[in-house]
Amino acid sequence: MEIVDSAENLVDSGNMITWRLCFSSFVASIGMIQFGWNTGVINNPQTSIKLFINETLVNRGSFVSDSKIKILLATVVAIFAAGGLVGALIAGWLSNRFGRRNGILANTLVMFVSGVFMLFAPYARSFEMIIIGRLLTGIGSGIYTGIVPVYLNEIAPLKVRGAFGIMSQLGVVIGIFLSEILGLTAVMGNEKYWNILLGLIIIPAILQALFLHFCPSSPKYLLFFKNDERAAEKALRKLRPLSFDIESEMEQMKKDSEHSRHIEKVGIRSMITNRHLLMSLTVGIVLHLSQQFSGINNIFYYSSTLFESVGVSKQNSEFSTLGVGGIMILVTLISIPLIERVGRRVLHIGGLCGCLLTCVCFTIFYSFHSQISSFNYLSVISALLFVASFGIGPGSIPWMMIPEMFAEGSRSTAASVGVSVNWLSNLVVGLIFPSLHDALQNLIFIPFIVCQVLSILFLWFKMPETKGLKISETVGFLKDQEEGIISGGNLDKNSQF
Ligand code: GLC
Repeated sequence: MEIVDSAENLVDSGNMITWRLCFSSFVASIGMIQFGWNTGVINNPQTSIKLFINETLVNRGSFVSDSKIKILLATVVAIFAAGGLVGALIAGWLSNRFGRRNGILANTLVMFVSGVFMLFAPYARSFEMIIIGRLLTGIGSGIYTGIVPVYLNEIAPLKVRGAFGIMSQLGVVIGIFLSEILGLTAVMGNEKYWNILLGLIIIPAILQALFLHFCPSSPKYLLFFKNDERAAEKALRKLRPLSFDIESEMEQMKKDSEHSRHIEKVGIRSMITNRHLLMSLTVGIVLHLSQQFSGINNIFYYSSTLFESVGVSKQNSEFSTLGVGGIMILVTLISIPLIERVGRRVLHIGGLCGCLLTCVCFTIFYSFHSQISSFNYLSVISALLFVASFGIGPGSIPWMMIPEMFAEGSRSTAASVGVSVNWLSNLVVGLIFPSLHDALQNLIFIPFIVCQVLSILFLWFKMPETKGLKISETVGFLKDQEEGIISGGNLDKNSQF
């Protein structure tokens, strides 16, 4: 494989970071904040929404029953993930057709409309408007998850690509945390303000649409999809320091896009029929599966119940849930400087091993917590350590790895597939969890433990290390791996490969 040392590689990464690059990454990440917000926001106001549904049905003189209300409420919650799946499937097409930045811009409209639906639902006395609003926020969030990581990947300098990739997950956890704070019963998660809480997404949607005007399009998109070298150079100029000679980065980008043009064609069918692309796609899919089947969202959705069941009071359990969000932000921040040092493999596989260990401990402590009182604390500590292990790698790495493993031509299609798998498994876990919980009780984490073991084994052998690699190197590495020349792990830049 050809190794070309571009000027980008030689420049100190600190010098490559400009305010425009940070601003553009932040603006794009507002999309991931929206995703996190909408994931978490529905937890607290559920009782108020239930009352509203009941009231509306009574006012309309419709038949009211407990199970009908339960089903309607479950629809309000679950339709978000179903919408996410639809959005993720659209994302690839949208970002290839209109570009990464414009795709995000178009999506702000989806979020705005969905916010309006939810905000005005009580005034229109229509719970259907909440369901439509939740479906649209799901679609919008799915689109964000498919485009934002690709945009971040394409504007970041190679040396700090990992750190910028983590911005996606940082956005998600910040969004969850904000929704936990504003969703507290004492703040807005109550009968009076729940619709305003759900409609707040209008504000970031407007801000993002305004700010996006100051963010350049992805230079790689302009070069590869539009074949517009001048526009690509102009966009890159805006993202890099004035003193930086962008010539060699442009040269490298041209080489990469030439390379991709010759060996890859966009589209899911060619991806499945091309052996090495299929292998990369499989790795990407397993990364997303390993994230969702780690069982993380069970902790997010059920942490209050969990804390209460081991003796924490209701009010304190709301605050303990905030603690879970806080830990997640902290470890995500810690992982930023680590990602370029220790690499993606160590953080992801290591994080999964941590999840495995803490899940086993949790299962043991939780099973015997009523007999041995100290096990109450130990099960809470295991749950918190589980969250920390997830946050250090499995939370962020699946979002950023697919964009790193695929060249421009197939990147957004592959991201769209991976992200759809993520949403589908999120939906499945959410749907099966209640009945699984009824069946397994304290042993609820056993199926997730099995999934963690399987993911660790697969990824140990197949996951490549993309740290510091140019896309042509990664693609070549995966090809060699697929042909059995090398196995998963680090690519030694000095090796014959
Ligand atoms: C990841 C997951 C998401 C989860 C979040 C928790 O972004 O995709 O489902 O809620 O992490 O931090």
